Amino acid sequence: MRNSSFLLMLVLSIIHLSSQPSSATRATLRIGNSLSVDNPDDVLISNSSVFSAGFYPVGRNAYCFAIWYSNPPCVGQNCTIVWMANRNEPVNGRFSKLSLKKNGDLILTDARDAIVWATYTASLLRSKTPVHQLQLEDSGNLVLLDREGNVPLWQSFDYPTNVLLPEQNLTRNTPLVSSQGNRNFSSGYYKLYFDNDNVLRLLFNGPFISSVYWPDPGQVSWEARRTTYNDSRVAVLDSLGNFTSSDDLKFLTSDFGKKTQRMLKVDHDGNVRVYSRKKKGKWFVTWQAISESCTIHGICGPNSICSYSPNKGRRCSCAPGYVWNNDTDWTQGCVPKFKSFCNESSDTKVGFLHLPHHDFYGYDKDYSENTTLVACKKKCADLCNCKGFAYRFNQDKGSFDCFPKMRLLNGYSSVSSSGSIYLKLPQANLSHYQIRTKEFNPLPCPPKVQEVVLQRTYLKSHANSTLRILLIFASGLAGAEIVVVFLTWSLIRTDSNRRHAKGYHLAANRFTRFTYAELKKATRNFSKEIGRGSGGIVYKGVLPDHGEVAVKRLNEVNQGEEEFLTEVRTIGNLNHMNLIVMWGYCVEGKHRLLVYEFMDHGSLAENLSSDQLDWTKRYEIAVGSAKGLAYLHEECLEWVLHCDVKPHNILLDSNYQPKVADFGLSKILKREGLKNSSFSRIRGTRGYMAPEWVYNMPITSKVDVYSYGIVLLEMVTGRSPTEGLANTEGGDENESKLLASWVREKKRTGVPMETWIKEIVDPRLTGEFDVRKIEVLVTVALQCVEGDRNARPTMSQVVEMLLRHESEDP
Ligand SMILES: *[C@@H]1O[C@H](CO)[C@@H](O)[C@H](O)[C@H]1NC(C)=O
Ligand SMILES: *[C@@H]1O[C@H](CO)[C@@H](O)[C@H](O)[C@H]1NC(C)=O
Ligand SMILES: *[C@@H]1O[C@H](CO)[C@@H](O)[C@H](O)[C@H]1NC(C)=O
Ligand SMILES: *[C@@H]1O[C@H](CO)[C@@H](O)[C@H](O)[C@H]1NC(C)=O
Ligand SMILES: *[C@@H]1O[C@H](CO)[C@@H](O)[C@H](O)[C@H]1NC(C)=O
Ligand SMILES: *[C@@H]1O[C@H](CO)[C@@H](O)[C@H](O)[C@H]1NC(C)=O
Ligand SMILES: *[C@@H]1O[C@H](CO)[C@@H](O)[C@H](O)[C@H]1NC(C)=O
Ligand SMILES: *[C@@H]1O[C@H](CO)[C@@H](O)[C@H](O)[C@H]1NC(C)=O
Ligand SMILES: *[C@@H]1O[C@H](CO)[C@@H](O)[C@H](O)[C@H]1NC(C)=O
Ligand SMILES: *[C@@H]1O[C@H](CO)[C@@H](O)[C@H](O)[C@H]1NC(C)=O
Repeated sequence: MRNSSFLLMLVLSIIHLSSQPSSATRATLRIGNSLSVDNPDDVLISNSSVFSAGFYPVGRNAYCFAIWYSNPPCVGQNCTIVWMANRNEPVNGRFSKLSLKKNGDLILTDARDAIVWATYTASLLRSKTPVHQLQLEDSGNLVLLDREGNVPLWQSFDYPTNVLLPEQNLTRNTPLVSSQGNRNFSSGYYKLYFDNDNVLRLLFNGPFISSVYWPDPGQVSWEARRTTYNDSRVAVLDSLGNFTSSDDLKFLTSDFGKKTQRMLKVDHDGNVRVYSRKKKGKWFVTWQAISESCTIHGICGPNSICSYSPNKGRRCSCAPGYVWNNDTDWTQGCVPKFKSFCNESSDTKVGFLHLPHHDFYGYDKDYSENTTLVACKKKCADLCNCKGFAYRFNQDKGSFDCFPKMRLLNGYSSVSSSGSIYLKLPQANLSHYQIRTKEFNPLPCPPKVQEVVLQRTYLKSHANSTLRILLIFASGLAGAEIVVVFLTWSLIRTDSNRRHAKGYHLAANRFTRFTYAELKKATRNFSKEIGRGSGGIVYKGVLPDHGEVAVKRLNEVNQGEEEFLTEVRTIGNLNHMNLIVMWGYCVEGKHRLLVYEFMDHGSLAENLSSDQLDWTKRYEIAVGSAKGLAYLHEECLEWVLHCDVKPHNILLDSNYQPKVADFGLSKILKREGLKNSSFSRIRGTRGYMAPEWVYNMPITSKVDVYSYGIVLLEMVTGRSPTEGLANTEGGDENESKLLASWVREKKRTGVPMETWIKEIVDPRLTGEFDVRKIEVLVTVALQCVEGDRNARPTMSQVVEMLLRHESEDP
């Protein structure tokens, strides 16, 4: 079998060579010509032969068009690849070719002429400067040039894979993405990119979770000595080894000053390194981003701990009390040996195992300052799905902080880590676990990756029959042509289930991507509806790792997956104690779902109508929701208008602390642009809508201020702005005006404050309230509902006004 296919290849190569002479000159490919995978000489070599470009074998019968360092010359599969055109979709080892079309397109075709990759320059240019040739420069840049040879119409430097070469710009549009492994060149999980706030970061973007891990996510940008103020978002390593980035990251490689071969590479282990090599020598590391390799995310799976030792390298072990989910695959992490504490019938006594110098990054329920160990233990013990907590000394405050963990991910141990982890385990077995904390069943990580044989079977499965035919006709060239025809035909038939290149998706920080099946199961087939809001229905569900969740199923799907993910990521990055937390999302076919934390006390609307809120709670809710909205408006990099502020969208947690929900939904649902003046632009809810919506005026953050003002009035008076007005169609604006002007009139009558307040205040408060604070709320509310948007305060001014009066409290 092996021999016969080899013979076949040999014969075919000869035929091929004789019928199609090599079209490549040394460094350039002229328009109308192509490079063929069948001809080993079809390689572009840069002027001083530092770089070569050609078809490079990445597996059995699988090739990628690549650029590699070729001085000193490299052999076989030992070359240092710096770029690939089709890293995620290799082509066949026969008949595949890279062609520079007459129309200016550079295309890579697979054996059956399917286009696998293209520059699409023809449609982009449509200009007077036609493409003339493809040229490999001594910098390692592959460029399409016009006849004058001075304008790069397209360049590989603008489409990097995992390597940045000297003088190549890393820009906002050109992130680097690691490969899967040393010998597997397809896109991996680590990405070096400029984030929305202009900072250069490393992101682990795994199949299930994703999170940023460099610079240290526990530090704000200036602590990491980065600036967010320079939005040019460009970084470059110069030829002497000087790296500068617009976010102020600067370094010199350890061999700075020498002109030598260099490259900056996002390695498949998640670290970024600069490699240099002396003449004919080996590559050596001259800089690396992360010195403690266990702080890189996504190394070990859930509930496991990464540890590093110089002689054994990185390893993953299960956390005490946990066992490997799958003995052969560390990425699947570990599962508890003990019964879940969240079981109603469980009466297991809770104990805590102390792991000094350990940490699990992220997934904190919340955090509390100045907490005693006893209080922190109690907090975690009381939360059934708390898996343990981090307990750290806060040097600024001189006290300890407590971080209850809902999931145990990105775990590592390191002597330099100052914090401790307390794992929640059954008390009965605690002493048993304690013994082998350190050496608990380690697996080497990552495990040896077996080479995967790509499913490119056209030669293998047809070799025998074709060989027979070949032998019959081998004496004549005419016969061989028939073979070629036959082969091409059989190829079309068998290669039809080509791999579908999997999209590379940017998911949000600390986010989980759920499958539709998971959410369907979690919500028991969407059986328990807990709310209906703009864009979809909300269901209650239970997820193994999060406990109770609220799942919102969006019913409008106006945008593609990539766009949806971008929006979800923006929303998911917002992080404020008065904004609802988004745990994750699901995108599958037409399904778009969002998973939020579940709020024990439901919405403000429910609580107002069921008379649950005393005066103190109402004031706290007013302040909290104002803070949440202020954060949305002013502290976010991207302005997020809520556009639908109302009591149904203010949720209350177990302590009646408010969290604003449904923000950013207009972005996710991608309703028509805010400037459009059509009927469809009217958003929000009757009774809470600012007049701008009705009168087609520009929509600013002041629409949220207006709605918030109405909510305040509702909290004070207990009257809904739509009460008794259900039938006045078309009077959207009047409804809210009615409530506002009623209050305004009462206030204006000139009677003593005590009197008018008694007349407007919610009778359900049964006289128990602070008159002065009511006056503050009403004053602020009436400013918020001014018809002229410029007369309304901003949300942070609202917060300031409310807090000022709160602190005046005796
Ligand atoms: C290659 O080198 C030759 C001679 O040094 C020079 O004339 C030519 O312009 C160079 N070509 C490129 C593409 O740099
Ligand atoms: C490729 O590199 C490996 C290790 O660096 C070496 O053992 C092997 O001999 C090399 N193969 C060739 C063909 O140079
Ligand atoms: C890199 O950026 C600089 C300045 O923005 C520009 O002058 C230079 O041509 C760019 N280099 C490449 C290879 O695109
Ligand atoms: C490195 O490059 C930056 C920007 O080009 C320059 O300001 C700085 O002086 C360089 N550092 C050294 C040591 O050459
Ligand atoms: C922003 O960064 C670029 C590139 O590093 C630099 O040229 C520019 O001067 C910086 N701008 C400011 C305002 O610092
Ligand atoms: C463990 O993982 C491997 C590789 O992903 C898989 O082939 C195997 O079926 C898994 N075993 C179990 C018991 O799930
Ligand atoms: C709860 O306990 C019952 C009986 O012990 C068991 O069947 C069930 O799987 C447990 N549920 C969870 C979530 O652990
Ligand atoms: C921490 O709490 C204790 C008791 O509540 C208090 O005495 C102490 O001042 C607090 N320390 C800080 C730094 O807030
Ligand atoms: C944990 O404790 C229970 C009850 O004491 C015991 O039956 C079980 O064997 C223990 N498991 C381990 C792993 O020690
Ligand atoms: C590379 O890794 C990906 C993802 O694990 C896998 O699908 C692919 O088959 C691998 N390719 C090779 C050539 O091993």
